[in-house]
Amino acid sequence: MVKIAPSILAGDFLHLEKDIRLLNEHADILHFDVMDGSLVPNLSFGFPIMEAVAPIATIPMDVHLMIVNPDKYIPRFAKAGASYISFHLEAADIAGKDVSEYISLTHDCGVKAGIAINPDIPVERLFPYLEEADFFLVMSVFAGFGGQTFIEDSIGRIATLKSEMSRRGISKDIEVDGGVSASNARVLAEAGATMLVAGSSVFKAEDPARAIAEMRV
Ligand code: DX5
Ligand code: ZN
Repeated sequence: MVKIAPSILAGDFLHLEKDIRLLNEHADILHFDVMDGSLVPNLSFGFPIMEAVAPIATIPMDVHLMIVNPDKYIPRFAKAGASYISFHLEAADIAGKDVSEYISLTHDCGVKAGIAINPDIPVERLFPYLEEADFFLVMSVFAGFGGQTFIEDSIGRIATLKSEMSRRGISKDIEVDGGVSASNARVLAEAGATMLVAGSSVFKAEDPARAIAEMRV
């Protein structure tokens, strides 16, 4: 059964409480998109939003760090109540660090560690970490903006990752993020995705609860 993780980036920031209560009831995970204007060409939000949401969240919080030097901030997001934190492999490349360092730090904070990759990073680069990391975020758009068109190639990338996991007898979550909706949820789940992030298709829908239900495959 896939887990649906709506991205609050597409929510109504003036009435965020209303959105969170709806997601508590209908979704499985709250997805927070943190952007720094450096790793990605956009800014979003950080600790204040998460700290405000945490007391009313009854489902796990998943923080997607689209930032350079994620190690500087992982402990504070953990303290704010994150259950899942993902950071980009590209951020480790820029810092000249091994992603293993970020994984260990996240684990030391008692949080599930995920590695995210943009569509232009070979999915095989995740293979060395299949044992260490807890989940893998395959971006199906280039990180930085909500509302982009799903890149079809992502289906094959997820299938490749899934088949390498199966070959090695590993079963970990595969998260997909960007342009996800009821129209591609099934094919993504069949390819191996277990966590579906969805922003626009949930919050721009007339009935967000129904949009979430329709993604359950
Ligand atoms: C993009 C973010 C996504 C985004 C998803 O950088 O990581 O989580 O908010 O939004 P949609 O579903 O609109 O593509
Ligand atoms: Zn995201």
